[in-house]
Parts: sequence; structure tokens; C-alpha cells
Amino acid sequence: MFNIENNQLLALVDAAKDGFSKAYAPYSNFHVGAAALTVTGNIVKGCNVENASYGLTVCAERNCLAQGVISGEKAFSAIVIYTNQEKLTPPCGACRQVIVEFLAPQALVMAVNHNNDRKQWTVNELLPDAFTPKDLLEK
Ligand code: THU
Repeated sequence: MFNIENNQLLALVDAAKDGFSKAYAPYSNFHVGAAALTVTGNIVKGCNVENASYGLTVCAERNCLAQGVISGEKAFSAIVIYTNQEKLTPPCGACRQVIVEFLAPQALVMAVNHNNDRKQWTVNELLPDAFTPKDLLEK
């Protein structure tokens, strides 16, 4: 797993918590924040944004990474997911695929909650044998 400095990890958790505070989740009431560290050392964040047409909901992780892309950053070394759930929230399947698009296989994915419980994985652990940009580009 890539080494993330402790101060960067603390900043990521803070940013994910801030994202959590902005969550728009009136239907599920399941609030999620996410923050990602770009390889250039910047932090971007996101929250889940639900919709009255439920299927249009976008998770915090995908909004977070899209925010990075909008800022001109397409490579990230870590992503943190923050919830106030006793059971830590792992990224959903759709988010795992989007994480694979922008984070290296050994990059860090960490779930954190309001008790500061933490669980971490590498991207590869969450989605082994993933379909990646390389599968399209390498003939
Ligand atoms: N959600 C996320 O934002 N990230 C996840 O990894 C799991 C699920 C959101 C989607 C929806 O707004 C709510 O949590 C309940 O599924």
C-alpha cells in the first residue's frame, strides 16, 4: 500500500467529514462524505447527492472523484469515506469501478466513522481483476 503521511490522513478525514456535513440524502437519510488525495498533494471532497428519481443518486465517492477531475486532477493516491454508521461503510460496487479508473491498484481506500473506527483496503482488494482503462488501450 502507498504510504500516506499521518497529517495527510488527518486532513483527508477532516475533508471527508466536511463532505458528510453537505450530504443531500433526504430519501435514505444515509449521509456519506468522501475525500481524496491527489498525487499532487491536493484534497478534493464530495458527498452523496440523492434525487426524487431515486436511481439518479450519485454516491459521495463518485462525486468526490468527479470534483477532482473538474479541478484538473485525474490521479489520486487515497480516498476516505466518512459516515456516522457504527458499521463502517465500504464503497459500493459502482464506486469501486470508478475508484479503479483513477487510483492505482495499491492505493488506499479507508472507511472512517464518527467514533474514528477505521478500516482500510487497497483498491485491488476491493475490486480484483478489474476492467481498467488498460483493457481498452492495450491491444
Ligand atoms: N452511498 C454512498 O454515497 N457511498 C457508498 O459507498 C454507499 C452508498 C449513498 C448512496 C445513497 O445516497 C445512500 O448512501 C444510501 O445508499
